[in-house]
Amino acid sequence: MLSRKAACDSHGQDSSYFLGWQEYEKNPYHELQNPTGIIQMGLAENQLSFDLTESWLANNSDVLGLKRNGRSVFRELALFQDYHGMPNFKNELVEFMAELRGHKVAFDPKKLVLVAGATSANETMMFCLAEPGEAFLLPTPYYPGFDRDLKWRTGVEIVPILCSSSNDFRITGCALEDAYQQAKKLNLNVKGVLVTNPSNPLGTTMNRDELNHVIDFAITKKVHIVSDEIYSGTVFDSTSFISIIEALMDRNIDDTHDLWNRIHIVYSLSKDLGLPGFRVGMIYSNNELVVAAATKMSSFGLVSSQTQFLLSNMLSDKKFTSKYIKENQKRLKRRMEMLVSGLRGAGIGCLNSNAGLFCWVDMRHLLSSDTFEAEKELSKRILFEVGLNISPGSSCHCCEPGWFRMCFANMSQETLKVAIRRIKAFVESTTSGRENCNPQLSLCNSRRRSVSKWVFPLSSYDDHAAADR
Ligand SMILES: Cc1ncc(COP(=O)(O)O)c(C=O)c1O
Repeated sequence: MLSRKAACDSHGQDSSYFLGWQEYEKNPYHELQNPTGIIQMGLAENQLSFDLTESWLANNSDVLGLKRNGRSVFRELALFQDYHGMPNFKNELVEFMAELRGHKVAFDPKKLVLVAGATSANETMMFCLAEPGEAFLLPTPYYPGFDRDLKWRTGVEIVPILCSSSNDFRITGCALEDAYQQAKKLNLNVKGVLVTNPSNPLGTTMNRDELNHVIDFAITKKVHIVSDEIYSGTVFDSTSFISIIEALMDRNIDDTHDLWNRIHIVYSLSKDLGLPGFRVGMIYSNNELVVAAATKMSSFGLVSSQTQFLLSNMLSDKKFTSKYIKENQKRLKRRMEMLVSGLRGAGIGCLNSNAGLFCWVDMRHLLSSDTFEAEKELSKRILFEVGLNISPGSSCHCCEPGWFRMCFANMSQETLKVAIRRIKAFVESTTSGRENCNPQLSLCNSRRRSVSKWVFPLSSYDDHAAADR
């Protein structure tokens, strides 16, 4: 009855990865009403600074009442439907993006396209840049939602750039070239590289070397770079974030160089302002054709006029944005440190991070064998015995078993403490019977895996791509 596209499961919703989500929904933790329930640590939401936005709203009740200078703008907003977006809002957004980058980059509102979240922005980029059956290269591990956002409706393929723990999952020139050759072997025409900077799930910013590798690659192969910078405001070590545009400027790449036309930034307010429900996303591109095409496509997912009105008022308050950015980063850092030190107390290490709403956690020593089956087994035990829903690295296409993403900003501090207590008790109980870990397993650090079907499912109508937030 349904079309093949509508019926296929590459949306990811039915993936076994969602087992944890389903279990969480059946039995959610509540401090008083359900203290033995499952704690949701698989959700990259930022709830740490709601008091700041709520207090701004309380002090600006006119905005919530859809008034400007005391007069109602209800009719104006009710009728607004221009897919170019509200000029005021776009001006405020580009200023906010510049503020997050320490004003090292200036953005032109004419190069901005508004869409309903980064989900829509990423898909729109694929529709604009690639034909069905063409490929984008993505460093692993990557945000599981990309399987849905980049591949499902567009027919575009993802080829992984395999990154490993041996160099903290950094992108190398060799890994880029390997992925390119892999794509060629699969007869896929490579249209670009999509990076997430800062990374979900790693919680790290790309360093200068990585950015240069990607830039060199894009110059040599004449391909696009899409830089998803949705976590740019979460960098708690604020000097270390380099936006792709800044990296190009620092290389003194002449603004007439054709690479500028192949650089595109995706951004949204879902993470930095903690507003995923508002569905505010955007594409920033130097390429006039891309801006024009994406603007036309944005008809399918516009940002509502009252959201644009509210947020343009909020973002125009520079005292508020400056305080919010600093305070939010401070709180995220404190949370990250709390989780990292709690896990360290349980003998669990994390990748050193400087951004994001999550830690990339190394549980290889807790696996019964160096396999993805063992990772799945451990994941299930953590879900059912410990009562934590965390994301296994395999859902992010990590090529080494034993890594997990744990989110820390979608819960109260007390709940995080409970989670840490639970994981400590679990590790103590599992390691007391046997020696802490199989010494063989530490070797898997440097082991690289081949591109298995498991890691790299093509967009067939029956693959099992995972999606999450
Ligand atoms: C890297 C990345 N890109 C895009 C998205 C989607 O964001 P949005 O809520 O703005 O659609 C997410 C959400 O988790 C993400 O982590």
